[in-house]
Amino acid sequence: MRLRVNNRDTDVRPGAGERLLATLHDQLHLTGAKFGCGQGECGACTVLVDGRLTYACITLTEACEGVQITTVEGLAGDPSGEKLAPLQRAFVAYDAAQCGYCTPGQLISALHLLDRRPDPTEAEIREGMSGNLCRCGTYPKIIAAIQATARGEFREVATDAGSTSDASGRAS
Ligand code: FES
Ligand code: FES
Repeated sequence: MRLRVNNRDTDVRPGAGERLLATLHDQLHLTGAKFGCGQGECGACTVLVDGRLTYACITLTEACEGVQITTVEGLAGDPSGEKLAPLQRAFVAYDAAQCGYCTPGQLISALHLLDRRPDPTEAEIREGMSGNLCRCGTYPKIIAAIQATARGEFREVATDAGSTSDASGRAS
């Protein structure tokens, strides 16, 4: 079957009942989304499927044929993975990660939030990020990083000359 991940079509052969997270890791070597609870509760495996927040650990790969999947590796729009999107740079600048295990999922949820709410209140950020747990307790810094991205703090120096980024920090 064919998956479209980070704007690229790719053929995969999922086993019966295989979950999307396993396919991303084992067949596509996209290991950004993390395995945490494996039960759709912690958000470590969060990706976007057709723009919807999705827990890849409980999503059947077979159900994802023909839809657009976005993982944290696609955030900066850079296949080499060397550039960082504004949201990612905000997380670095605001020290919004300790162990970093939850960070890929946090970034995807932050992207989803800012795509819908370019100027969110703190309450809206808390609500939008409520599906992502952080065992290290970095929530205040995550909120600060999202607020900074919404203010456009990281917009100008985000990408190569000529490219821009929107409020979500997604490069274009
Ligand atoms: S690993 Fe998927 S929600 Fe926890
Ligand atoms: S930074 Fe460690 S779990 Fe969130």
